[in-house]
Amino acid sequence: MKHKSEFIIPFYGEQSRSALLKKCLYIPAHCHEHEPVAFSWEDPFVFEKPQPLIVEYCSGNGQWIGEMAKHCPQFNWIAVERDFERARKIWLKIFRMQLDNLFVVYGEGLVFSRHYLPSASVKEVYVNFPDPWPKRRHAKHRIIQKNFIDEMNRILSPNGIVTLVTDDVSYSEEMIALFSSWKSLFDPALYVTEWPEYGDSFFQSLWIKQQRIIRYHRFIQG
Ligand SMILES: C[S@@+](CC[C@H](N)C(=O)[O-])C[C@H]1O[C@@H](n2cnc3c(N)ncnc32)[C@H](O)[C@@H]1O
Repeated sequence: MKHKSEFIIPFYGEQSRSALLKKCLYIPAHCHEHEPVAFSWEDPFVFEKPQPLIVEYCSGNGQWIGEMAKHCPQFNWIAVERDFERARKIWLKIFRMQLDNLFVVYGEGLVFSRHYLPSASVKEVYVNFPDPWPKRRHAKHRIIQKNFIDEMNRILSPNGIVTLVTDDVSYSEEMIALFSSWKSLFDPALYVTEWPEYGDSFFQSLWIKQQRIIRYHRFIQG
């Protein structure tokens, strides 16, 4: 793959509509009537080889998923990020690190999932340090809610796994409550606070440096 320095979104304002670009799916933020782009995850334009799909929502600058894609080439990895600059960083990483098995979605996680992930199409899902929205009145902005769990139930293949990582105790407790009908893979514990080989993300390194306790949760469909 040749390195490309330009990350160009072809539509603006009212013209905005989704677009499939090289190694990126763009989903505009304020798309009232979403018209999905027709494509298949098995299309060689998207991934070189058809392989099991792993999705990371809220990928930030893509540090964690970039390393995973490099070290686990037997999977196809999808990074979902709604911030332009961060999505752009992931996109550049794909070319710089020659990661044929990584694809970035520049868009909102739930909208992406509903329109672009067929039922039972995903092997695993990760969410590392989703924004905690600590104020009660902002909690509606959290990505992990009942509608997210419904989507996980739909997109995951049998025995699909969801891994959630946070340093926020109240978000952790909410995650555990929301996934209460699933089995914890750390049974009988609901989370662990040490996972040395988990991989690094920007926020994980930041919080570890500040000696915050990280909670890793892993659930399998019950
Ligand atoms: C706290 S950062 C964590 C980034 C990265 N996972 C890490 O550990 O360094 C949360 C990221 O999630 C993105 N984000 C928040 N809600 C989102 C959503 N609903 N869909 C897609 N991205 C989202 C934000 O733009 C931000 O980059």
